[in-house]
Amino acid sequence: MNTVVLGLQWGDEGKGKAIDYLAGSFSVVVRFQGGHNAGHTVYYQGQKVVLHVLPSGIFYPACSAVIANGVVVQPLQLVEEIRNARALGLSLQNLALSENAPLILPFHQELDVVFEDSRYQRIGTTRRGIGPAYEDVIGRRALFMGDLLREDVFRAKIAPLAEYYQRLFSAHGHPAGNLDEAIDRYLSAGAFLRPFVCNTTLLLQRAFAAQKEILFEGAQGTLLDINLGTYPFVTSSNTTIAGVFSGTGLSHKAVDRVIGITKAYTTRVGEGPFPSELTDENGRLLRERGNEYGSTTGRPRRVGWLDLVALKYAVQVNGVDSLFVTKLDVLDELEEIQAVVAYDGRGGLFSPHADALSDVRPVYHALPGWQKKLGAIERFQDLPRQVHEYLRFIEDFVGVRVSHVSIGGERRQTIEISG
Ligand code: IMP
Repeated sequence: MNTVVLGLQWGDEGKGKAIDYLAGSFSVVVRFQGGHNAGHTVYYQGQKVVLHVLPSGIFYPACSAVIANGVVVQPLQLVEEIRNARALGLSLQNLALSENAPLILPFHQELDVVFEDSRYQRIGTTRRGIGPAYEDVIGRRALFMGDLLREDVFRAKIAPLAEYYQRLFSAHGHPAGNLDEAIDRYLSAGAFLRPFVCNTTLLLQRAFAAQKEILFEGAQGTLLDINLGTYPFVTSSNTTIAGVFSGTGLSHKAVDRVIGITKAYTTRVGEGPFPSELTDENGRLLRERGNEYGSTTGRPRRVGWLDLVALKYAVQVNGVDSLFVTKLDVLDELEEIQAVVAYDGRGGLFSPHADALSDVRPVYHALPGWQKKLGAIERFQDLPRQVHEYLRFIEDFVGVRVSHVSIGGERRQTIEISG
């Protein structure tokens, strides 16, 4: 079954772990949006590995790992990530990189920083140049991976763009960096990446026609979607189901199943509304027990109770078939667990734009905690009754079943629930 795995919250739902658990039974794993703003944490041979752009399929040599055309690529960072993966003993002969992936260029990252430091309303971006790179795509002036493989083309295309950015930087009173040196480094990275570059749309269409099973690996989460998230506190790509199609060149017919990933509570990094945010002792406990610090930036994450109103919205937006609930074990010590079941204000409706969401007050429902350690439990029926109750409450509210739960960082600490 071709499967899409998507985050249903504000990112960091544990997609890396979920995808790594699922990836073994697929022939192709594909990243279709975002860039190295993502940080997918996976444990490989007992070692913690954080992937930023490389698809989680790289751990399975028989599986093609594809970075498709919707992903924005910073070539220097990708070279470094490939080198790090090789140091772990992975050959990466199974990696394919789209010739049509837009490039993150040096001035994109610089502009992201300048905007963040000067903007009247900070977004709290990862400062990786993601937004400015996607802006160039929409502005029809982007450069792509294929351009980097031909020195004359790359130099000819980057020159007018550099001029455009110089004007922007001087308008912000910011000196532009030395581009000549950066161009040389980019061209060397291009030479390094050349063996991986191909037409990934064709590759994926052939895989689909040959009935190979494809896993689509989403990055960030639904509430960070540029069109459907908590705008303007969002990332610049479609993190929802829509991104799969424009980001790969496959149609909806290539998708059989959508698995939505949600934590058993909620986190958010960066600015923006967060109705169920906890700033009390429970919040501190969840942050420490859940090690809620950004895997890309190290920033402490904001934490809160599970927001079922927002989760239901994400389930509907993506046509989710089942839920993969992560980090249940983080709640182990709690006597009582709360979940948002309604909003007071704005007609009680979920409206994702930041202004609307800032106005609502969450209404909670309390459930008993289990106060037992879950980490070593292997079978669903052996989980405490209160866990079953919590999961059933979630299922009843959002209208889809829970197919997997995760009770620790290791691949084996995952329980699949037969349907
Ligand atoms: P950008 O994607 O760097 O432009 O950041 C925009 C917003 O998305 C900020 O609030 C970031 O913290 C958030 N964001 C981007 N990538 C991730 C991620 O992988 N996990 C969680 N939040 C993210």
